[in-house]
Amino acid sequence: MLDLSVKVAGVTFKNPVLLASGTWGFGEKLKSYLDLSTLGGLVSKGISLKPREGNPPPRLAETPCGLINAIGLENPGVEVFKKHILPQLLAFKTHLLVNIFGETIDEFLGVAEALKDEPITGLELNISCPNVAKGGLAFGHDPATVKTLVEEIGKIYSGFLVVKLPPVGPVLDVARVALESGADALTVANTYPALAVDLASRRLALGRGTGGLSGPAIKPLTLKLVYDLYRELKAPIFGCGGITSGKDVLEYILCGAAAVQVGTATLLDPQNPAKILTEIEEELKKLGETNLGNLLAALKY
Ligand SMILES: Cc1cc2nc3c(=O)[nH]c(=O)nc-3n(C[C@H](O)[C@H](O)[C@H](O)COP(=O)(O)O)c2cc1C
Repeated sequence: MLDLSVKVAGVTFKNPVLLASGTWGFGEKLKSYLDLSTLGGLVSKGISLKPREGNPPPRLAETPCGLINAIGLENPGVEVFKKHILPQLLAFKTHLLVNIFGETIDEFLGVAEALKDEPITGLELNISCPNVAKGGLAFGHDPATVKTLVEEIGKIYSGFLVVKLPPVGPVLDVARVALESGADALTVANTYPALAVDLASRRLALGRGTGGLSGPAIKPLTLKLVYDLYRELKAPIFGCGGITSGKDVLEYILCGAAAVQVGTATLLDPQNPAKILTEIEEELKKLGETNLGNLLAALKY
């Protein structure tokens, strides 16, 4: 019998494949293609204190092996989320991490306060968003702010706390400070700053100008981040970036990810997460392994 279960900071996931934040809406579309309960877990779209409209269109630009998005974190706000969306997500028989963000530390704290008694597995803090108190510098580029944010959230929320890192900036310092301040695990990582040009109009292709690159193009980059961060910190990591196959998942696990999150691949084919799970089993058989846990950070040198 193959054992695909994995542990991330003491939480057991039935398999290592979670859906990454923002790429599957709130499940309503994906659930007709995929039994979400078969996955290791779900990470919700980013939720803020107040509703947000997001960026003007166009919000997506395709590249040869990736996608640039500038959605702008559109969401209905935490109260609507709690009332209308959360009950639907909790009905799936798997773990749920709620991804939250704010433009100030107080906004983050307000969302955590609103969710603190809900029966979710945990919170994932998106620290790639701009901090208005620091002139729009992303929270995740400033270790001192991350320290305060994670410590303050910890005073409100006692559950499983994950910090999702931006892939650029002082990533190691931010990761270290997040863990020292009380984060249980890291998600490595968010999208990479990118842009696309519309030649005909000689304008930037996205409504907001720039966006974040995801998909296969970023896999080798994020894989290296996971490798570097695990070697330095030995921390529980959700690897997230460009995963489209079972092989990709095993590579992430060998480099130090305890579990993974799949995003853009679900936009290419909504059944990809299920295919990835089947492929993991096939790859394990080829490797003669029955226990996925044996591969964690088991890279040979
Ligand atoms: C359309 C879209 C929306 C996203 N929304 C969020 C979000 O709300 N919060 C967040 O932390 N990350 C968000 N992300 C980033 C993904 O969760 C993930 O970190 C990134 O896309 C890299 O993984 P992938 O290459 O498998 O897509 C979004 C990505 C895409 C493509």
